[in-house]
Amino acid sequence: MSQFGEIYRDEDVDISVLHGKTIAIIGYGSQGKAQGKSLRDSGINVIVGVGDRTVHNSWKDAEADGFAVYDIEEAVKQADIVHILLQDPAQPAVYYSSIHAHLRPGQTLSFAHGFAILYGTIKPPKDVDVILFVPNGPGPVVRRKFKEGSGIYGAVAVDQDASGHAAATALAIAKGVGSTRVGTIKLSFQHETEGDNFEEQVLYGGAIQLMRSIYKVMTDNGYPASFAYAKAVRSIRSIIDDIDEVGVEEYLTRRASRTCEFAVRTSGPRVINEDAIQQIFEETEKGIFARNWLNEFNLGMPTLNRMRRTWADSDMERTGKLFRDKFGMS
Ligand SMILES: NC(=O)c1ccc[n+]([C@@H]2O[C@H](COP(=O)([O-])OP(=O)(O)OC[C@H]3O[C@@H](n4cnc5c(N)ncnc54)[C@H](OP(=O)(O)O)[C@@H]3O)[C@@H](O)[C@H]2O)c1
Repeated sequence: MSQFGEIYRDEDVDISVLHGKTIAIIGYGSQGKAQGKSLRDSGINVIVGVGDRTVHNSWKDAEADGFAVYDIEEAVKQADIVHILLQDPAQPAVYYSSIHAHLRPGQTLSFAHGFAILYGTIKPPKDVDVILFVPNGPGPVVRRKFKEGSGIYGAVAVDQDASGHAAATALAIAKGVGSTRVGTIKLSFQHETEGDNFEEQVLYGGAIQLMRSIYKVMTDNGYPASFAYAKAVRSIRSIIDDIDEVGVEEYLTRRASRTCEFAVRTSGPRVINEDAIQQIFEETEKGIFARNWLNEFNLGMPTLNRMRRTWADSDMERTGKLFRDKFGMS
């Protein structure tokens, strides 16, 4: 087996390294809400830093959730740990306008994704710790699991260890968010960032494109749209939880039909282009994906905006809406 990764659980991590410290959550979106509330429930002093309140609605959200909310400069001044949970391409401009000049030696700069550090769009001073904690799931799921007394598999990484205890801080944040209840591993900033960007392109990109292709081929060949939509989208539900629970082989040999097993083993590999996956991996490692995304963001996202319009206006999206209206989410 390839190296599995060293697992840290609650009993391995001392959350008291955060006692008496203030964590400033910078950006109160999907991760900001989930991590901020969970850290607070774990007994940590959390404040929130948000951009101009006349522009950023999340200021109101954070106040409604009972946090002390400050502009970002003030939050950084009050904090021991500055936990940056802004969307990734927006981070450098906010960092250099509102964070960099206010950092003090001994503070910790913390992220939930290594993009800005790996690609050098943020270069912190040498006398602060630079760490990362990422739960492997979207904010609402992180929060739901925490409230259920569980958590989400997570990872921590250290890029700069000025204090000598940067890893202990990162693991304590993971514990405060519930991730060491199930297990957290140590990664490098490089693996966290490139692994995430690779997954987004191949798993999310591939799965969604697969759904679109199945829907198109079936409807082009005269199938009723609702049936094509059920096959293209709804059916994925019936396999993913089973596979996650028992593994591929148990699913194929004990839970799926023999016809399905034969179809999977013989036709499945023909659907996937492994050379393209390898090529995307190499482009990600060379920073080509990161450069393309930063260019796109800095230009005001023209490609994304155009694609949003055409995809939103597609036959499959209209069918999906009707499908949910008629058949619900069952
Ligand atoms: N979402 C996930 O599933 C997930 C999972 C793991 C890790 N992460 C990482 O977590 C970090 C945060 O992602 P997210 O998905 O939580 O982001 P998000 O939901 O898009 O929230 C972004 C926050 O940043 C604020 N913001 C955006 N641009 C800003 C600007 N120019 N000035 C000031 N504030 C600004 C937004 O404020 P307003 O809305 O008020 O404008 C919002 O509060 C990223 O590093 C991401 O890679 C995300």
